[in-house]
Formats: sequence, C-alpha cells, structure tokens
Amino acid sequence: MSDDILLKLENVTRNFGAIEALRGISFEVKRGEVIALLGDNGAGKSTLVKIISGGLEPTSGQMTFDGQQRFFASPSEAKAAGIETVYQDLSLCTNVDVVANFFMGREIVKKYFGIPVLQEREMEAVTAKAIANAGTRIPSLRTNVEYLSGGQRQAIELNRFVHWGGKLVLLDEPFAALGVEQTRRGLAMIKQIAAQGIGVIIITHIMAQAFQVADRIVVIRQGKVAGNVERNRTSPDEVVRMITGESLEGAAQEPRPNGP
Ligand SMILES: Nc1ncnc2c1ncn2[C@@H]1O[C@H](COP(=O)(O)OP(=O)(O)O)[C@@H](O)[C@H]1O
Ligand SMILES: [Mg+2]
Repeated sequence: MSDDILLKLENVTRNFGAIEALRGISFEVKRGEVIALLGDNGAGKSTLVKIISGGLEPTSGQMTFDGQQRFFASPSEAKAAGIETVYQDLSLCTNVDVVANFFMGREIVKKYFGIPVLQEREMEAVTAKAIANAGTRIPSLRTNVEYLSGGQRQAIELNRFVHWGGKLVLLDEPFAALGVEQTRRGLAMIKQIAAQGIGVIIITHIMAQAFQVADRIVVIRQGKVAGNVERNRTSPDEVVRMITGESLEGAAQEPRPNGP
C-alpha cells in the first residue's frame, strides 16, 4: 500500500439482524485529504464512521489504517492510534480552563499513598509549549474556555489534536447546531488540519459545505458506494443524482430480463 494512503476500507459490511446497513464499502483516504461523505438518511454513513472509529464491529471486510490492517475494538483504541471523532460541534468544554481541555481524557495523574493527584504544573507546561509552538497567543491557560474567542478555541482544539499525534478526524454532521460564522470558521479549521497532513472524513447533508471543503466526495446509497469523485470533476447536480440514484433510471439502466 502506498505510504500516502492513510485509511483503506475493503468490502466492509455490517448487518443489524436482517438489515444490511453496509453492503461492501471500499474507498481510500490519503494523508492530507478531505473526504465529504454524503448520502440520504439511512444510507449507512454513521454506521461506517462508527466502524472506522472502533464504536461498532463490522460484519465482514477489512480496514488498513496507517499501515496496519485491523479494525479497532473500542473508541479509545482508535483514539490512541490517532483517530479523533467529533460528533456534534467543534466546541470545547467551556466551563473548564485551557489546560483541562488540552488534557481532556489524558490527564497526568500520579498516585501518592494510593491517592491519585492531578499533575497540574506538568500539564500546564506541556500545554504552554504546544500552544507556543503553534504560534497561537492565549492570554492565560487558566482562563475558562468560555471567555476565549471562537478563533482561540479552534486553535486549542487543532493544537490539541496535532499534539496528541492525530492522523484522521471523523466529523458526523459537525455544524448541525452552528451559525453561519461558526460554520465558516469550522470549515477553515478543517482545511488547516488537512494542510498538516491529517486525513478528514466529514459527513454532511449540505451540498455547499461538501463542495467548499472536500477534495473528494464519496456518496453512500443503500449501504454501497454510489459515487467516488474528485470535487473538481463533479457538480452538485451530479452528486444529487448519485445520492438519489436517479442516474440509474436514465439511459444507463440495466437491461431488463425480457428486453425493452
Ligand atoms: N443500532 C442499530 N440497530 C438496528 N439498525 C440500525 C442501527 N444503526 C443503524 N441501523 C440501520 O442501518 C441503516 C443505516 O443507518 P445509519 O448508518 O444511521 O445511516 P445514516 O447515518 O446514513 O443516516 C438504517 O437502516 C438504520 O436504521
Ligand atoms: Mg447518520
């Protein structure tokens, strides 16, 4: 497998009882590539993202991530390997400070006489170094995130992901609850992340967002890949036809068993 391929899915299937949610999904994500994953409700997008991020077991198929062929047994295992999943919006925990956000779920704890104690000073030093390295200025790392601007928050989130060795970001409808300006910043942040060699898969049902941010558009329809096209070589109309399956009802229709 070529080194610039970060994620490769081969024939991934997933059944829920009698429902075949995924019926053989194959595609690749390169390092630094943004993939928009589109498809109608129930197409299988969320199921696929959960399988990639260790939240759900596949029924069959193969996955290769960062040179290793395997599926992840849990979200924490996927996270440790460099897969970050953003579910609702891109926001941080606003009621705690920058350091707490930077170390969320990865706190440095030492035990003194069996009692776990947070290593605040050590965590603050690591955070300060990472933020400084990225050229971001934040007045105080002990400020609750609610008092920081949107741009500062995104910088923290971005630096945190890069600092912890992030390689692939999965976003399932990340801007559903956000306004126009926040969405614009979020899209810019996605591009900034990708420019650092990180792969991105973003699920969205908003065509304009897909065309704004993606290098490649992958359409899932009824659990199969109905289209995999470079953003520059397609159009919103064509993608809509892939989503609805309308193009299949045109001239390229499969021959009927008894002729026309
Ligand atoms: N936990 C589950 N149990 C049973 N069926 C499920 C479950 N999760 C998803 N499905 C079914 O799998 C199909 C794909 O769902 P989903 O991946 O959520 O689609 P999308 O995210 O594209 O809207 C749907 O038919 C859905 O009802
Ligand atoms: Mg979904």
